[in-house]
Amino acid sequence: MFDAYGTLFDTQSVETTVEEAFPGWGSVISHIWRMKQLEYSWLSTLMDRYEDFWSITQRSLDYTLRSLELACDRQTLEGVAAAYLDLKHFEDAPVCLDALAPYRRAILSNGSSAMLASLAERSKLVRSLDHIISVDMNGAYKPSPRAYMLVGDVLKLPPERVAFVSSNGFDICGAKSFGFTVIRVARSPSGPSFVQAEKPQMDERRLFALMRGQLETFDYPPDFTVQSLAEIPDLFERKVR
Ligand code: 2OP
Repeated sequence: MFDAYGTLFDTQSVETTVEEAFPGWGSVISHIWRMKQLEYSWLSTLMDRYEDFWSITQRSLDYTLRSLELACDRQTLEGVAAAYLDLKHFEDAPVCLDALAPYRRAILSNGSSAMLASLAERSKLVRSLDHIISVDMNGAYKPSPRAYMLVGDVLKLPPERVAFVSSNGFDICGAKSFGFTVIRVARSPSGPSFVQAEKPQMDERRLFALMRGQLETFDYPPDFTVQSLAEIPDLFERKVR
């Protein structure tokens, strides 16, 4: 069971579209946008006012542009938000999914069903997936147990029989707390060399990696950590099964 955004698909691949619409702002906007998009998913779940991820994606982009006082009409906003329908997959994604072919391979994601269908088709990963599950079906975002519960409903398996793969700290924590066997893909750099310890450097890319790409300090660590999805088929044969 794979998370989508940040795990199979690179959310920073929106940067090219953002840069075209707002020259010079591509990196800043795309990082704040992704941070805010996740915050809005948690906000809507905690308030019990679920809105689907397409709405959350547009609201969080709107927030980002307003906070930077960058003018934008509705049509442009929707056009830029549509970059989330055509994200690039990470290079290790098809390799991993294809090698796992004897097993059922699926996505559980915050994305709405329409957003996920678009991603899977445009990236052609759809051929290597047996199920695409959107949290939409239960109206609650990860890390709510109501989101993870959908996996059992669809696959008819107890949580410990599911290997759940994510690069997102909050998702790893939530999935482990729920009871899955969790594999972390460590996509974000960290540590002294990353921030250049002698004279710490901080920019939106580093801040994002430090805030969202690390392990959370709650007591629900992953069972396994890999550097690339390409390591998973072998790990799966040796340890997870
Ligand atoms: C996903 O649900 C957590 O954004 C991540 O795909």
